Amino acid sequence: MARKLVLITGASSGIGDAMARQFAAKGWDLALVARREDRLKDLAAEMKAKNGVDSLVIPADLSRPGEPERIFAEIEKAGRQIDGLVNNAGAGQPGYFTETGWADQARFLELMVTSYLKLIHLVLPGMEERKFGRIINVSSVSALLPVSPGHTRFSGTIYPGAKSLLIKVSQSLKAEMIGKNVHATAVCPGYTWSEFHDVNGARQSVSQLPSYWMLKAEDVAATAYDAVERNKAVSVPGAWYKFMTGLMRVLPDPVGEWLIAQQARRAMKRAQATQAAE
Ligand SMILES: NC(=O)c1ccc[n+]([C@@H]2O[C@H](COP(=O)([O-])OP(=O)(O)OC[C@H]3O[C@@H](n4cnc5c(N)ncnc54)[C@H](OP(=O)(O)O)[C@@H]3O)[C@@H](O)[C@H]2O)c1
Repeated sequence: MARKLVLITGASSGIGDAMARQFAAKGWDLALVARREDRLKDLAAEMKAKNGVDSLVIPADLSRPGEPERIFAEIEKAGRQIDGLVNNAGAGQPGYFTETGWADQARFLELMVTSYLKLIHLVLPGMEERKFGRIINVSSVSALLPVSPGHTRFSGTIYPGAKSLLIKVSQSLKAEMIGKNVHATAVCPGYTWSEFHDVNGARQSVSQLPSYWMLKAEDVAATAYDAVERNKAVSVPGAWYKFMTGLMRVLPDPVGEWLIAQQARRAMKRAQATQAAE
C-alpha cells in the first residue's frame, strides 16, 4: 500500500521544517512547498536517508494567486493523492496600517489567508470521499490574546485577525466533517524559535523575552500532530501559553489588555536599552 502523503507549506524553515520531520518520522511521504528550493531538496534528501520516505519538492510563492492550484495539479500529475495538509507558510507584514500600502496588505492576505483556504478547498473533496484527512492550520496565540501595538508593529495590523480566521475555519471544518474521519486543527504557537523574527525585524525585542516564553519548533510540530490525530480543533502548545490563554478567558478584557500592554512596554524598553548600549 502506498504511504500517505502530507502537503506542507513553508517547509524550508522553522515550524514547517519541523512539521516535515514530525510527519516523516511517522512514515508519511511529503510534498514540500516554499520559495527556497535548495532547502526543500536538502530536507527531502535528509528525510529519505533518515526515514525512507519520498518527497515531492514544489517551489512556489504563495503570495501569488494561482499557486495553490498549480501545486495541487503537480501533485496529481505525480500520481499522488493528498491525505494531509499543513498550512504553515507565512511572514509578518511589518508596519502600522497607515504606513503600509494596499499592494503589501493584499500580498499578505493572499499568503496568510487566501492560499490556506484555497488549498483546503482543493484537498477536502478527496479527503471526504476517501474518508481520511488531516489538516493543520498554523494559527498563532496572538489570535487568542489581546492585541498589543508592539506586536502589530512587527507582524502587521491584520496578522491577529488572519490567525483568528484560521481558528474559526478549523472549528467549522471539524463540525462539517463529523463522522468522516477528516480532522482539522488550528495550532496556536506563541513565540517560537525560527526565522520569523529575523524576517519581520523583531529579533532584538524578542531576544529580551524570558526563556519560558520561547517554544521549540519541534515541540509545536509534535503538539500539532497529536492534536490533529485527536481531532482537537484548537491547540495551544506549551504550559506558559496554555496558562496565559486560560487566564485571558477569565479576566475582564481591560485587565488582560493592560497586562499585555505592560509586557510589550517592558520588552520595548529592554530592546531600546540594549540598542543604546551597542
Ligand atoms: N515563530 C513564531 O513565533 C510564530 C508564532 C506563531 C505563529 N507563527 C506562524 O508559524 C508559521 C511559520 O513561521 P515560522 O515561525 O516557522 O517562520 P519561518 O522560519 O520564517 O518560516 C516561514 C516559512 O514560510 C515560507 N514562506 C514565507 N513566505 C512565503 C511565500 N511567499 N511563499 C511560500 N512560502 C513562504 C518560508 O519559506 P521561503 O522563504 O523559502 O519561501 C518558510 O519556510 C507562520 O504562519 C507564522 O505566522 C510563528
